[in-house]
Amino acid sequence: MIIMESEGNEMARLTSIGFKDFQNLPLEDKRPYLENWNLPGTPYHTLIAQQFDRALLERLAALANRIRFINKSREGALYLKGLLAHKRAMLYFSQPSSRTFLSHLAACQILGLTTGSVRDAATSSEFKGESKEDSIRTFSSYFDMIIMRTPEKGLAEQMAWELSNSDRPIPIINAGSGKDQHPTQALLDVYTLLRSFETKGGLKNRTVTFCGDLLRGRTVRSLSYLLTNFENVRQVFVAPKELQVPEDVLDILKAKGVSYALSDNLREATSLSDAVYMTRIQDEWDKDKGESARIDTSKFKFGAEELKLLPKDGVIMHPLPRRDEIATCCDHDPRAMYWRQMRNGMWIRAALIAATFGYEREILGCGY
Ligand code: CP
Repeated sequence: MIIMESEGNEMARLTSIGFKDFQNLPLEDKRPYLENWNLPGTPYHTLIAQQFDRALLERLAALANRIRFINKSREGALYLKGLLAHKRAMLYFSQPSSRTFLSHLAACQILGLTTGSVRDAATSSEFKGESKEDSIRTFSSYFDMIIMRTPEKGLAEQMAWELSNSDRPIPIINAGSGKDQHPTQALLDVYTLLRSFETKGGLKNRTVTFCGDLLRGRTVRSLSYLLTNFENVRQVFVAPKELQVPEDVLDILKAKGVSYALSDNLREATSLSDAVYMTRIQDEWDKDKGESARIDTSKFKFGAEELKLLPKDGVIMHPLPRRDEIATCCDHDPRAMYWRQMRNGMWIRAALIAATFGYEREILGCGY
């Protein structure tokens, strides 16, 4: 059984259960551990997309909108900067990143958190043989939150469990773990979709097409899951057969009764879609050198012809970085959402960090 203890305003603690048992718990049994013990329904650790339901997604989107509005004035920006000036965040990125690192950093700066970072495990004492558990305990001695990206599946969850059972539990935000999860990317993707369709009837009854490397793209798994929170959103997966979406994603859609289709025809899917979510070939995961290059991906690129087929209210998205999956000739089309999507990441991550530290109500109720 999970025994929760509370200490301070932001504490959630898990005791009396080993990590393997914890890992195998159904989500509903894990949920109290992932939430702020003093603010039920508010994230403490952010580890997997499954922990976000529609109510929480809409709350975070509203908070992000509020933060971006407040930040427009000098007075508002200074007010936001004062909120978490007493907190420090550690950005521990042992995998390359531009957007996720910088948008979390900028989000911390908006809220006044001071930050430290390790961007290469070879520059930390892991290089001298220190275990990941000890490294995380070290970070928690100096910081109040860890934002971490790792190539290992499930490591953020394991480290959150370690910290929650330590003398100094602090929240962990998973900024991308292996091929499995990228929950804050999915948050910014949903935030972008909500904003894109806000004045056009919302997300209900929409069709979202995913295209590219759907096998190894962690953003696809996380976003596919989050979309199941919205009524009648159909999902289409367009990919070469070698890179089609994995069964575990489809199993969730089946279990939730979500309509989906697999395809290899991007043009046809585009003409029927409200959003086309392009992804890059993730060849950093190749087992054999050149494995991805042997797959014919020529039909899985979005260019001028696809743009003509996209409905006039449709949007093109991409988690970025891109290679040639979206031709640059699409960049100035008003339906190209990927640059705005990237900036939305800063606002929704600021909202997530503020909520994690218990500042949602304060921000929503402030006079700015
Ligand atoms: N979308 C994304 O995760 O980008 P980075 O790898 O640049 O962080």
